[in-house]
Amino acid sequence: MNPLMDKRIIVGVTGSIAAYKAGELVRELRKQGVAVKVVMTEAAQEFVRPLTFQVLSGNPVYTNLFRLEGQWEPEHISLAQWGELILIAPATANFISKLASGLADDLLSSLCLASQAPKLVSPAMNSGMWENEVLKLNCKRLRDFGFQFVGPGYGELASGEIGKGRFVEIREILGKLKEILYPKKDLLGKRILVTAGRTEEDLDPVRILTNRSSGRMGYSLAQVAEWRGGKVTLVSGPSNLSPPFGVKVQRVRTTEEMRKRALEAFKEADIVVMAAAVADFRSAEVPGEKLNRRRMSLNLESTPDILKEMGGKKNDKFLIGFALESGTNVERARKKLVEKNLDLIVLNDLTQEGAGFEVETNVVTLIWEDGRTEPLPKLPKLEVAERIWDRIVEALR
Ligand code: CTP
Repeated sequence: MNPLMDKRIIVGVTGSIAAYKAGELVRELRKQGVAVKVVMTEAAQEFVRPLTFQVLSGNPVYTNLFRLEGQWEPEHISLAQWGELILIAPATANFISKLASGLADDLLSSLCLASQAPKLVSPAMNSGMWENEVLKLNCKRLRDFGFQFVGPGYGELASGEIGKGRFVEIREILGKLKEILYPKKDLLGKRILVTAGRTEEDLDPVRILTNRSSGRMGYSLAQVAEWRGGKVTLVSGPSNLSPPFGVKVQRVRTTEEMRKRALEAFKEADIVVMAAAVADFRSAEVPGEKLNRRRMSLNLESTPDILKEMGGKKNDKFLIGFALESGTNVERARKKLVEKNLDLIVLNDLTQEGAGFEVETNVVTLIWEDGRTEPLPKLPKLEVAERIWDRIVEALR
């Protein structure tokens, strides 16, 4: 489920050179299923014409506080009722300070004052302005009033200087919006460790032993946990996926590296999900030179079992493992649950239609420590993650 689907968002554009980037933002929002209405300040219209946003949002653009075209209700009131969230992007130093003082001398500031909806501010300005003490104080004031911020980023500014003040990447804004609009916050305050992806073991300086795991299931679990309010650390093996928003990502390559990082984060965690497809074997000795192609046998040894080690010092942590099987072998998965001292094991049968490494969906069965089993239907991996978290939250109650 995409937390942005069918949401009504008001995008307030203020007078920064980054205003042109808000066009792309509106386009992306609509692609995510959002209904968008754009409100522009007078200064913003110096940079981009309202027509641009009218076309991109598919709605009229609102610019004037005092124009009532054929309707009895002032626009700041009807818009305030319509919007489920107000996003100010880009937000100038001037507009932020205006909001912080409760001024309402144009449509956008009046709307912000009149609306009860959550508000997200994405600043864009010169780094000198961003570092200014008065502005810092005004940002703090807004935060204290419940406004949330995303950005600004660090990098090249319109002036050519490098510094903080850059309009943040659109991906970040979407990430923050999803976090705000996700309906459940039932993992608030929980510290969560998720591992994901594959690990790699060197055979020689060139070749590796690994598996085909993409990391999708683990990344989805980490993202949904973050949306639900968890403080999430993701220890990830090599993966092409972009990092989940708001999650602390630690990248590793080998099983030993994953073991080290995961055990470190384990100490602080309340809930641990070991979704990584850890390489089960590694070369008993790794030569410094490339192996000769005529060498036909490898001397392998088992890698350390990270989850079993965690099971040994579980205490009151909630421990979840995955059992990657080629066949719906509940008994084999249950054996792993007992051996590794888990609360729950997620049986992932790779032979099922709709399950597997490269696909966006998954078919899993939840097997509980108390003997219950629950098969889930074929679902997108993000929805599988949501169901798994639903059940974990229930179990924690
Ligand atoms: N696991 C681990 N360390 C390993 C191997 C596996 O922590 N060296 C974890 C996996 O992340 C998963 C669970 O143990 O959560 C089960 O992994 P799986 O590969 O299905 O089982 P194995 O215990 O490795 O047994 P086998 O490969 O023989 O099926």
